[in-house]
Amino acid sequence: MRIGVIGAGAISPVYLRYLTGSTEVSVVAIADLNLERARARAREFSLSAALSPDALLAQPDIDLILNLTVPAAHASVSEAALRAGKHVYSEKPLGVSAAEGARLVSCAAEVRRHLACAPDTVLGSGVQTAIQALDGGVVGRPVGATLAFLNHGHEHWHPDPAFYYLPGGGPVLDMGPYYVTALVALLGPVKRVVSVASQTFARRTVTSSPRAGDVISVRVPTHVAGILEMAVGVTVQVTMSFDVWCHTLPHLELYGTEGTLEVPDPNTFGGPVRACRAGEDIWRELPLRPDLPHDQARGIGVIEMVRAIRENRRGRLDAVVGAHVLEVLAALERGGDTVITSTVVRPLPMGTNP
Ligand SMILES: NC(=O)c1ccc[n+]([C@@H]2O[C@H](COP(=O)([O-])OP(=O)(O)OC[C@H]3O[C@@H](n4cnc5c(N)ncnc54)[C@H](O)[C@@H]3O)[C@@H](O)[C@H]2O)c1
Repeated sequence: MRIGVIGAGAISPVYLRYLTGSTEVSVVAIADLNLERARARAREFSLSAALSPDALLAQPDIDLILNLTVPAAHASVSEAALRAGKHVYSEKPLGVSAAEGARLVSCAAEVRRHLACAPDTVLGSGVQTAIQALDGGVVGRPVGATLAFLNHGHEHWHPDPAFYYLPGGGPVLDMGPYYVTALVALLGPVKRVVSVASQTFARRTVTSSPRAGDVISVRVPTHVAGILEMAVGVTVQVTMSFDVWCHTLPHLELYGTEGTLEVPDPNTFGGPVRACRAGEDIWRELPLRPDLPHDQARGIGVIEMVRAIRENRRGRLDAVVGAHVLEVLAALERGGDTVITSTVVRPLPMGTNP
């Protein structure tokens, strides 16, 4: 499978390190609106070509496009790549609205190409060990869950952070995909969302290089509290914020009839996974699955997708999951009470066959 990358920004070296080390794929070219940036990445990773996005899509020997552009461009770049006959793996979120997500699912079906969406951290040893523990009955039947992502935004470290405050950014669409994809992998689809969304700061000042001093206008809610009702009947409390300096909330905690399961940070591949069982009153760390990555492995989702294409099966991160997660997140960010119209079959845990 020959891969062309579109988007040569901050996350691209992380993917390129992983994928250029794989024997299952070969990364042949990279494109960006900023051609100089694409050329520099091509040199850094010894890729054979740096091209404009249109020229990359016109290459007949490229099978799969890895879309690493900013969220506002995800849908248009993915759709153009699908219509050019390529399979597509998109960074999250799949698009910036539920309608974009649904349109992409239809487009992939129409052109008979695979479309998958990040995050692939959900395929790592941490979340997969938690799924195994839940399915194995370690904490009994699920009752409820709490998930929290709170920080003070990305303008302190990202070289070009404005997109985090435009539609498709904000804590909900930027970080929510990690949490809600993990939740769907654990518990299946969401059927209803209730939330209140607010924006604390109208402007943010960049402190990271090279844009230190730039002022960003905030165009999305940055502090959101809500409840998700899962189709299996479990309720989940959610807090997602770019307005909080410090906190002590868990990333993702699952409450069951026989105990509590601590799921590790869904933005990472490893642990710890801990359980506290009824009557024991002590947290025990569970051994992580040894067959899955514990450390940075962004790109493993592309490999999973390539295997799904080869084995002619549904991919674990297919766009149906990404579009469902996007509909849930868009509802959470909008506020109010929303019945979710899409649904999804829980992706198969790693190592199990259809
Ligand atoms: N930076 C991270 O640590 C990180 C981590 C995980 C996921 N992501 C996700 O990866 C994606 C990219 O993030 P980033 O940090 O690399 O952003 P970035 O701004 O550093 O890079 C994005 C690149 O995309 C290019 N681009 C924008 N629109 C384009 C278009 N229509 N066609 C071709 N190129 C286009 C830009 O010129 C830029 O070089 C985002 O969806 C982000 O949420 C980033």
